[in-house]
Amino acid sequence: MLVNMKEILDDASSGGYAVGGFNCSSLESALAAVRASEALGMPFILQFAPVHEQYLAFDVAAPLMLQLARAAKTPVAVHLDHGGSVEWCLRALASGFTSVMFDGSALPFEENAATTAAVARTAHALGASVEAELGSMPHNYNGEMGDYRPEDFYTKPDRAAEFVEKTGVDALAISFGTVHGIYKTAPKLSLDVVRSVRDATGALPLVMHGGSGLSDADYRDAVASGIRKVNYYTYGALAGGSAVADLAARTPAGSLHFHDVAVAATDAIRADVERVMRLLAPGGAKRA
Ligand code: 13P
Repeated sequence: MLVNMKEILDDASSGGYAVGGFNCSSLESALAAVRASEALGMPFILQFAPVHEQYLAFDVAAPLMLQLARAAKTPVAVHLDHGGSVEWCLRALASGFTSVMFDGSALPFEENAATTAAVARTAHALGASVEAELGSMPHNYNGEMGDYRPEDFYTKPDRAAEFVEKTGVDALAISFGTVHGIYKTAPKLSLDVVRSVRDATGALPLVMHGGSGLSDADYRDAVASGIRKVNYYTYGALAGGSAVADLAARTPAGSLHFHDVAVAATDAIRADVERVMRLLAPGGAKRA
């Protein structure tokens, strides 16, 4: 069933677990997440990121995602990930998304706060939820970190409290050591940052981006420290790719059908999503 993200995250906060925000860049990745959610009875957030328009146009993805959410047996929020402009957020809200992220993390604090607050007023008037970001994480899709030092970008607890107060957001993405994309070296998460931001912002659900490629202990520790939403994409996409490569390697030349490729990718992504859902909520989900 299609729900707004705040409902899902409020339940996660009271139950002390986290839910996944899984990005959909193909029909297969969306189906995989819905099937995993139904198999485990876990709510989740089905996300579209504008960076994936090169694979799946938003105008095609939006009705598909909304229909999958409406038909799902579990609560599913449909969310715009990393909306880099007010226009993107309005486009998603006009399409029926139940949640949007305005990502002003690269803007000066006051501009990020003022624009996020304006997006939040519109979204709330439409019954939708809003995520924003303070502190920033690089996009690292080829695994090259350059001279990036995560600690230079950590979210500052006092600024987070001020930001939440000024904007009225429903969830806040924070920077504490994760990056988007491939990790060439194991990430070091600063759980002190998570705990300090949690203490400074009250019960507000905190979001971990760059959530794939972490150890089981990283997920457990992040959730125990206050993370309530984990954004996940790259390593699920790699799991789908590996399954397709294996299938191609064991299929005689000339007899690999694309429908079998799609099934292999969907099944592998689904298994990976289920693994993550279990780690984020070992006791399952609870509804208020
Ligand atoms: P990964 O692709 O690193 O899992 O990050 C996903 C994400 O944070 C989307 O916002």
